[in-house]
Amino acid sequence: MSGMWALAVDPGRGRCEVVTAPIPRPGRGQILVRVHVSAVNEMDVQVRAGGWKPQVKAFRRAGPVLTGFEFAGVACGDGVRIRAGQRIIGYTHVLKGPRLHAEYACVDEADLLAIPDNLSDENAAALVAMGLTAIEILEHLRPLSRGRSCLVIGAAGGVGAYAVQLAAGQGAEVTAICSSRNTDWVLGLGARHVRAYETGPRFRPDDRFDLVIDGPARSSFAEAAPHLRRGGTYISTNPLADPWGFVRALASTRRAGWLMMLSTDAARLARLVALHQAGGLFPVIDSVHHLADADTAFDRFAARAKQGRVLLRITPAPT
Ligand SMILES: NC(=O)c1ccc[n+]([C@@H]2O[C@H](COP(=O)([O-])OP(=O)(O)OC[C@H]3O[C@@H](n4cnc5c(N)ncnc54)[C@H](OP(=O)(O)O)[C@@H]3O)[C@@H](O)[C@H]2O)c1
Repeated sequence: MSGMWALAVDPGRGRCEVVTAPIPRPGRGQILVRVHVSAVNEMDVQVRAGGWKPQVKAFRRAGPVLTGFEFAGVACGDGVRIRAGQRIIGYTHVLKGPRLHAEYACVDEADLLAIPDNLSDENAAALVAMGLTAIEILEHLRPLSRGRSCLVIGAAGGVGAYAVQLAAGQGAEVTAICSSRNTDWVLGLGARHVRAYETGPRFRPDDRFDLVIDGPARSSFAEAAPHLRRGGTYISTNPLADPWGFVRALASTRRAGWLMMLSTDAARLARLVALHQAGGLFPVIDSVHHLADADTAFDRFAARAKQGRVLLRITPAPT
């Protein structure tokens, strides 16, 4: 066993290609994992389109795989907590390089967790990165409680769909914004009110929220602040989309936070799985694609009106 299937993206052509590559060798503290299912994220699609050039240059030093942040699969070696043969999930931090759109990868054991048998590969992979992001927002940055109100922008996307579920589970009154095709689906996730972004403004004059979560980072702190209650919080996923928001927020009685770079550890992954097992987080899967159809998966991620996560089944190997 020396070669593996791997996804290589060609930013020049804006296309994906399945190639054979050497199986990586685990470094200190790492475990070789076999990837069953991974997911597509916005950065993957941007890398295929030629974005993130300095980062891509650095990622290339580790091999041809430039995409894939999370996975469900199986451990191929023993670690301190993880044993060979265990079904596991994991996530790689962007600075360590995305590499999970491949049959095998080496992942820090600290970022791995064994999962129960009743959690399928697809459901597990769908939960990892965006479930962790929603937990970061609603359990660490700004937990809500009964009687609080929350606006979720981009409620049918990965971040948004899990944020709606968690906020509703905390007892908050959730208003969701999504495309008109997804309004019923988003109500089914637990939103009390829904607005289609094509047919009206994000904020209405009488809106007052305890928390505004902007998944696709389309709004600004200045736009949201008049609609936040005193002590209310605005959270967006991309600080670069609203650089002045930082400055304005410093002088405001309203609070603001921008997610920088998602990171995780076994405890956070355990919380994610515990929430799922307790019925508090339902995996949202738009579609599952074979590795050989990665371009279709990437195109689907970038398309309008998807519902939750776009997944890539990596093994069994493409035919
Ligand atoms: N900084 C961090 O640590 C961190 C962590 C996780 C994610 N992120 C970032 O968060 C962003 C969202 O990720 P994701 O996986 O949730 O993406 P996604 O699944 O593509 O979701 C984005 C959602 O936004 C909706 N949308 C598009 N335009 C809109 C508008 N004008 N108003 C309201 N909604 C609109 C889309 O709906 P339609 O499809 O119907 O248009 C889609 O459902 C990405 O940029 C990702 O990189 C950052």
